[in-house]
Amino acid sequence: MPAIKNPDDFRRYLADFCSRGGSREDTGECRTAVADSRNTGVKYFTNSFWTAKQRQASSIHEISYRACFKPQLPHFFIDLLTDEGDIVYDPFTGRGTTIIEAALMNRRIISNDINPLSKILSKPRLFVPRPDEIAGRLDEIFKNADSYLKKSDFTPELPMFYHPATEYGIAVLMNYLKLRSDSGAADNIDDWIRMTATNRLTGHSKGFFSVYTLPPNQAVSMESQIKINQKRSQIPEYRDVAALILKKSRNLQKNLTDADMENLAAAGSSARFLTRDACDTREIASASVKLTVTSPPFLNIVQYAADNWLRCRFNSLNAEEIGERITMSSSLADWCNAMQKVFDELCRITVNGGWVAFEVGEVRKGEVRLDESVIPLGRNSGFECAGVLINEQNFTKTSNIWGISNRKRGTNTNRIVVFYKK
Ligand SMILES: C[S@@+](CC[C@H](N)C(=O)[O-])C[C@H]1O[C@@H](n2cnc3c(N)ncnc32)[C@H](O)[C@@H]1O
Repeated sequence: MPAIKNPDDFRRYLADFCSRGGSREDTGECRTAVADSRNTGVKYFTNSFWTAKQRQASSIHEISYRACFKPQLPHFFIDLLTDEGDIVYDPFTGRGTTIIEAALMNRRIISNDINPLSKILSKPRLFVPRPDEIAGRLDEIFKNADSYLKKSDFTPELPMFYHPATEYGIAVLMNYLKLRSDSGAADNIDDWIRMTATNRLTGHSKGFFSVYTLPPNQAVSMESQIKINQKRSQIPEYRDVAALILKKSRNLQKNLTDADMENLAAAGSSARFLTRDACDTREIASASVKLTVTSPPFLNIVQYAADNWLRCRFNSLNAEEIGERITMSSSLADWCNAMQKVFDELCRITVNGGWVAFEVGEVRKGEVRLDESVIPLGRNSGFECAGVLINEQNFTKTSNIWGISNRKRGTNTNRIVVFYKK
């Protein structure tokens, strides 16, 4: 289907989608509604918009990141609002869900995130090496381990997370990758290994380098890990760093087709990765972006440096310094001030006839209606608000906290404010 051209057609499409009941057949109890908001004069469309057909996302997305959205979210908007070859942008890229999905859909991409971990985790998935290339490189590195770090020079520093032999493997890899990037020799295989190892550092299963700890997008302090170990009577077992990297690499690529690989590489050849504050992305030309799909930093304070210290340590990044640059707003007024500047910048770079899909999620269990605050911000910058989508999806999942399994039911809700530039 060619891209929708204007807000009226967009609203007609959504109203029609809702009148058909959307994807209710697979979500049972989800609400379907179209309503006018008295507060904002904007139409709200509630449904389960990411249908069963769209639900199968590519395995290449499966890199964990704090507050990432599902690939089906950007897919929905990219499909509806852009054509092949259009530029899709994310100013808060995170793990890269928007730009990877856009690349898979044969769009051109621009990425930005103030946190350099974002590029480390997203860019390598545009230039995917074959598993045999990854295996060969890992073999080479570990066969020559001693040349990157002599065993006799190694002192374990993180015994609460890793078996000493595992930590040695991680340290060898760290030194190898630093050497390669410092000398400018790092290639797409090294970058892929860096991404996968960063993703495997800590987690709550045997697929990670560490002993059982929090899920991989969070890292506890050394002190907290000692307490977790005592509570669970656990000591770190040996994990084979190279084997786990290879296993994760295969999983990431498990449903990737040749056409996917070509699309990713084509998007990669013209992609731009910026590490700027989203309100000042001067490298992006005015009136060049067709669609932005993004989710901004939380309103709540996220202990960024504390959460990422291990990932930053592995990549020789200063977590404290990055933490200071990340937007952290403790009040709604501060958050709106920061986002106003981002909207001004988005309006500059968006083409006439272009769009922004701005996901605000559910804040404090729906107590704070961020969508109502975001609508005037976009309008102040010169956008028209085309509507708000509330995507609701029921789920049943097994949550496993401290080894106790529960079957939990709930609803995932995304609130997306959509803007149009005339
Ligand atoms: C909610 S996450 C985005 C997640 C993303 N949608 C995904 O699927 O992975 C918000 C991101 O904004 C980044 N960020 C925070 N403040 C920023 C700023 N001022 N400029 C650019 N990026 C920023 C954070 O590093 C984080 O990656």
